[in-house]
Amino acid sequence: MSNIIPQTIGQQYGRRSWAEPWKIKMVEPIRMIGRQEREQALQAAGFNTFLLRSEDVYIDLLTDSGTSAMSDRQWAGIMMGDESYAGSRNFYHLEEAIQTYYGYRYIVPTHQGRGAEHLISQAAIKKGQFIPGNMYFTTTRLHQELAGGTFVDVIIDEAHDPASQRPFKGNIDLDKLQALIDEKGAANIAYISLAGTVNMAGGQPVSMANVRAIHELCGHYNIRVYLDATRMVENCFFIQEREEGYSDKPITAILKEFCSYTDGAWMSAKKDNLVNIGGWLAVNHEDVFEMARNMVVVYEGLHTYGGMAGRDMEALAIGIAESVEDDHVHARVNQVRYLGGLLTEWGVPIVQPVGGHAIFLDAKRFYDHIPQDQFPAQTLAAELYLDSGVRSMERGVVSAGRDPKTGDHRYPALELTRLTIPRRVYTQAHMDVVAESVKAIYDVREQTRGLKMAYEPQYLRFFQARFERL
Ligand code: F0G
Repeated sequence: MSNIIPQTIGQQYGRRSWAEPWKIKMVEPIRMIGRQEREQALQAAGFNTFLLRSEDVYIDLLTDSGTSAMSDRQWAGIMMGDESYAGSRNFYHLEEAIQTYYGYRYIVPTHQGRGAEHLISQAAIKKGQFIPGNMYFTTTRLHQELAGGTFVDVIIDEAHDPASQRPFKGNIDLDKLQALIDEKGAANIAYISLAGTVNMAGGQPVSMANVRAIHELCGHYNIRVYLDATRMVENCFFIQEREEGYSDKPITAILKEFCSYTDGAWMSAKKDNLVNIGGWLAVNHEDVFEMARNMVVVYEGLHTYGGMAGRDMEALAIGIAESVEDDHVHARVNQVRYLGGLLTEWGVPIVQPVGGHAIFLDAKRFYDHIPQDQFPAQTLAAELYLDSGVRSMERGVVSAGRDPKTGDHRYPALELTRLTIPRRVYTQAHMDVVAESVKAIYDVREQTRGLKMAYEPQYLRFFQARFERL
């Protein structure tokens, strides 16, 4: 296994430079408002970037979710929407695309990822069961908890260390998983919740060897493995780059093989699949499918649209095929790495190695004088917006929420601020502006003070919490 990670496609193929495999046909104007207006906007938003108006944002790196640019083919597909209530031809196109590229048997469409998380959690978790997984994700864990389950993190220790250069920091630690099965008993494990890549760990991938081993271990105990496929295409890029035997395999083949070791997947199509809205659940077993297909009509919509319009499903079916093209995936991940490369060169602490969808600033090291209960990552997101109108997101103690048993803050080892790169949206010049702004606030870091929480909602508090300067 190679530990040398080429930083650009140019290095990988021996070319001097590389460029995106598309050109721009339509543009959306953006502008940077003045510093005084940014200060006002930030105050009005309670220092929470989720509460800013997008018109007050210059470069929007809040999320890669639903923010992709669609292709001319996808927009043409929008015109081909079949808006019949039942049996829309766009549903069958979508079903075929998922079966072709991911390889699962039964498909249930949903309005977005958390709709699918709700269905799988309710269909596959019995009260009191445990769900081991490779680090939590906010909405995923909440749906597991609402179904009466308890999520248990069994990711390898290195995933919690932002400086570790391990190539597959998203892997499950098989010893931790075995120990949990031994302790709780296989019957008390609902399923394995495996995400590729791992968002909260910095977009870190899972290796093919790891999923194969999980599949074998779980086969022995009759425990099912469900995949959060939200950024699985990006995960396949890292397998192609870093895992022996995969460098000459196309992304499509790697994706199909990976999914074949799992029993189903839920998907936020707003990420990898290149659409602005949409999601799906796909499973191989009829029992779970039956339940999910029945529940979808209660919570989402009929089982041939699940909350999406016909045109949304058409754009999604086309987006799936585009998302697995090698050129697309290479350009996507390498743009993220371009930004990571600049920041690394300038000595800014970020999670290494750079993952698939975002740069994660290591707020604990960035602001080493701000204690975690004064929200260093939230502070960093606020300061970055103030400096340049660049919007980022907290992924630290605010996102981690409170322990449902003790009611205390959960203090995650990783206290990060995420610069998430939308797909096919920004240019290299935008990345330069972002890097320069991060450097500017890093240079004055010692003068920066933390925040205190002024309002805290009950669920997923990071979306709506408000803060004040200390
Ligand atoms: N799983 C992962 C790994 C995600 O990153 C997300 C969403 C979901 C599930 C839920 O999907 O938003 O379509 O309901 N992540 C977004 C983000 C919100 O910004 O990382 P959804």
